[in-house]
Amino acid sequence: MEVVICKDYDEVSLKAARVVADLVHARPDAVLGFATGSSPMGLYRELARLHKEEALDFSKASSFNLDEYCGLASDHPQSYRYFMNKELFDHINLPVEKTRVPSGTAEDWPAQCAEYEQQIADAGGIDLQVLGIGSDGHIAFNEPGSSLGSRTRLVYLTEQTIADNSRFFEKQEDVPRTAISMGVGSILEARQCVVVASGANKSPALAAAVEGPITCMITASALQLHPDTIIFCDEDAASQLTMREYYNWIQQQKQADKTT
Ligand code: F6R
Repeated sequence: MEVVICKDYDEVSLKAARVVADLVHARPDAVLGFATGSSPMGLYRELARLHKEEALDFSKASSFNLDEYCGLASDHPQSYRYFMNKELFDHINLPVEKTRVPSGTAEDWPAQCAEYEQQIADAGGIDLQVLGIGSDGHIAFNEPGSSLGSRTRLVYLTEQTIADNSRFFEKQEDVPRTAISMGVGSILEARQCVVVASGANKSPALAAAVEGPITCMITASALQLHPDTIIFCDEDAASQLTMREYYNWIQQQKQADKTT
């Protein structure tokens, strides 16, 4: 894992967006994996800006989202489909029919999950997966105890995640208890993972994910097994990383190597 410690959330967002943009330039038909939540909002804002002001072209790309709440239709303001349209898809030229978010209202969850996995495989797999990290160390909605080999499936959210995400809802009781989520195993198959993390409330989870043992109790720790994961975090999120100075030193060396 490469850890890039940034001065603030804006720098996290700009640097992560640069990685996505470089891929889209190099491979216009890239298959992108997107996450929702607060963490990638700045990244999406920057992609929208790059599209508008620098003609970053998504017309040949396609995308898959990590998860969706069960019970919320796509036009529900708290659904992840709604979030993605509002935060990103409405502002770039990624054809909407090539954007996939699991349905929150499917009649047959196992069939839908199997179909989602098949659609990812048919697309040739995900080239770059954007990820946030939950305060309990989850990626997508793979809560503590999820199998590290898990695939897309129906999951039950922890009380911690329900409380964390209640800020988007009128009241905590409105937060759905279940979701459809890509599994840890599905995520690990993405060719590249880009994690964005900011704020002190993420620091224990980030430290456990990067420097702790690989464990189903912190599903983000499975990314230690991934050959190409880059983590962009701000100083607050990085505050409990014991190897912080080493990660900074690596980035300084890389910068120096570029300029010589
Ligand atoms: C959402 C998702 C979640 C979030 C995580 C962090 O699609 O996959 O794993 O990334 O819960 O959420 P925020 O960014 O809101 O702190």
